[in-house]
Amino acid sequence: MSEKRQLKLGAFIMATGHHVSAWRHPASQADAGHNIEHYKALAQTAERGKFDLVFVADSPAGWERAKDPEALQRSSQGAHFEPVTLWAALSQVTNNIGFVATASTTYEDPYLLARKFASLDHISKGRAAWNVVTTGADVSKNFSIPGHPAHADRYERAEEFVDLVKGLWDSYEDDAFVRDKQSGVYLDPDKVHQLNHHGKHFTVSGPLNVARPVQGYPVIVQAGASEPGRELAARTAEMIFTANQTLEDAQEFYSDVKGRLGRYGRSSGELLISPGIFPVLGGTEKEARDNHEYIQSLIHPSIAWTILQRHYKGVDLSGYSLDDRAPPLPQNTELNKSRLKLVTDLVERNNLTLRQLYLAVAGARGHREVVGTPEQIADAIQLWFENGAADAFNIMPPILPTGLTDFVDQVVPILQRRGLFRTKYEGKTLRENLGLARPSNSFALRRNQREAV
Ligand SMILES: Cc1cc2nc3c(=O)[nH]c(=O)nc-3n(C[C@H](O)[C@H](O)[C@H](O)COP(=O)(O)O)c2cc1C
Repeated sequence: MSEKRQLKLGAFIMATGHHVSAWRHPASQADAGHNIEHYKALAQTAERGKFDLVFVADSPAGWERAKDPEALQRSSQGAHFEPVTLWAALSQVTNNIGFVATASTTYEDPYLLARKFASLDHISKGRAAWNVVTTGADVSKNFSIPGHPAHADRYERAEEFVDLVKGLWDSYEDDAFVRDKQSGVYLDPDKVHQLNHHGKHFTVSGPLNVARPVQGYPVIVQAGASEPGRELAARTAEMIFTANQTLEDAQEFYSDVKGRLGRYGRSSGELLISPGIFPVLGGTEKEARDNHEYIQSLIHPSIAWTILQRHYKGVDLSGYSLDDRAPPLPQNTELNKSRLKLVTDLVERNNLTLRQLYLAVAGARGHREVVGTPEQIADAIQLWFENGAADAFNIMPPILPTGLTDFVDQVVPILQRRGLFRTKYEGKTLRENLGLARPSNSFALRRNQREAV
């Protein structure tokens, strides 16, 4: 067996692919968002490639619709399956791959969320993960609340939410269910715990109505990178999804977040950092560049202006042409602070025109794009992995299903030959494959500590 530190891989799936115009590409599955056979094939392809996990991003309600009727007519975004339901189905046609479902601490209820993810973990036999998001986009109009909570308030609620959910997952100790037909004892009442949580945002008694998850807790993933986002990740997460453009930025993020772990009594290996990468493959460099140009050419001008307007909220762009220099981006956001910084840096570093800006974010939305041969994509992954910038990668195929199949068939074998990536799964659960410990039950731990005194 290889002694080398091993890379982890996630397949970050957007229905037709990550590129904004993927649905128009001849190789994409245009009805992907509601096509279970499509998702089934993707999960099985990722498992064939020995990926650790598949991941879908999500919002509890559709994102803001384009204002321009023409853009509205041409956009494929906003309608797709709910992730936990989707992954429950796909766990039945796979054996090893993990399933990361996104769920919002701003718009969901902790008890119901704990119940859903505990169920997914049982149904998948220990392959569930929760991508904890505070929801950047304002979807408040769908949830009978006065408005979208401010960034700081969302994170404050998230801190309490995550602790509460973990507490609920501990409602039953692992051996609480005796189920002895002979004696007629079904349950050991000493091993069932009522949380009795009274916090600033939530009052929840417990216990949960699902047994402790197979993994103890589903793996906790976090995907915010602002100051409070980094703190939440350092305290509670086991994997962090991030978007970084340059090696230097990724190294800064990696060392900053890992540097926070000690304060919470945690070590470096307990939190895996996973930047995104958007690979545009070709047999030769020229073929890869042609593939990239072709998909970029599918962006309709109305979509281009919609992308730009999303970044220039409240700014009238009607006097600009696409070949004008991009004006400074408005900096006062309560939505996604880290992505705003990333795009601002991108514009300033490269002195972009508006055309260059929309082309730069139309594919990977600010994640790193690599256009090249399979060897070059593998080099790009290895460079960050071996230079303090990543433990894992979220692979973001531009077009699906072909972008994932090509990566599995062409790039994974190179990573395996270089001894960087597994050729078979190490364990049965997602935790085992990611090398993460199974958390103890907090109630059992406290009782054992009391008894030891
Ligand atoms: C790879 C990646 C995936 C994300 N997925 C989602 C998602 O599915 N839903 C969501 O609301 N936000 C998602 N986000 C956004 C973050 O969760 C977070 O809300 C956003 O970054 C704003 O928080 P911040 O200002 O702390 O960065 C994602 C971010 C990254 C980097």
